[in-house]
Amino acid sequence: MSADTEIRQSIIDACIEMNRVGINQGTSGNISVRHGEGMLITPTSTPYATLKPQDIVFMNWAGDVEGRLDASSEWRFHLDILKARPEVNAIVHAHPNYCTTIAIMGRKIPAIHYMIAIAGGSDIRCAPYATFGTAELSVNAVAALEGRKACLLEHHGMIAVGTSLDNAMWLAVEVETLARQYHGCLQIGEPPVLSDEEIENVIGRMASYGHRDADAA
Ligand code: 13P
Repeated sequence: MSADTEIRQSIIDACIEMNRVGINQGTSGNISVRHGEGMLITPTSTPYATLKPQDIVFMNWAGDVEGRLDASSEWRFHLDILKARPEVNAIVHAHPNYCTTIAIMGRKIPAIHYMIAIAGGSDIRCAPYATFGTAELSVNAVAALEGRKACLLEHHGMIAVGTSLDNAMWLAVEVETLARQYHGCLQIGEPPVLSDEEIENVIGRMASYGHRDADAA
């Protein structure tokens, strides 16, 4: 298998994995990986189990595509995030149930647990609602991700980014865990949160602890 085919297959494997672990349903999600003078991205509305490496779409920085299928309807925010964030090499977008529940409520995930630090700061912001696939949604997503590696999308879902596809997938699962914990807390009441200083402390400790991607905030 050529290196190009391997990357394409890794995107398909990640799509199947995000449905297997339950952070996505159907073809609601989409994944991109920085590649040459652009990105490789999942095609729109195509069942993951049917995907072949050649179905993954290459899009250059100008938005021109190569491939027999159309790119994901969310190509704009994938392209804009990769342009805005040189350290990011992979993006996972999905509609995980707990993230989406919190996003429907228009809430961010606050520092309820020290693991919030893996997303780069003391909260995981919720980007204001805009229609899927629009430039407005892309602008909102890039802003919500500033200094962060994950964000929620109001009435929509979640985005996780990473220096590699493995990192972005790992973060997506962890963010859904945090959302689930926050949702649980909200059944009891408004949870107490850790201070910004403590989260900075944790971020520093994670860097020396060698946590994956902890230095790419
Ligand atoms: P695609 O099938 O076009 O990737 O999009 C689904 C989606 O989640 C839109 O937000």
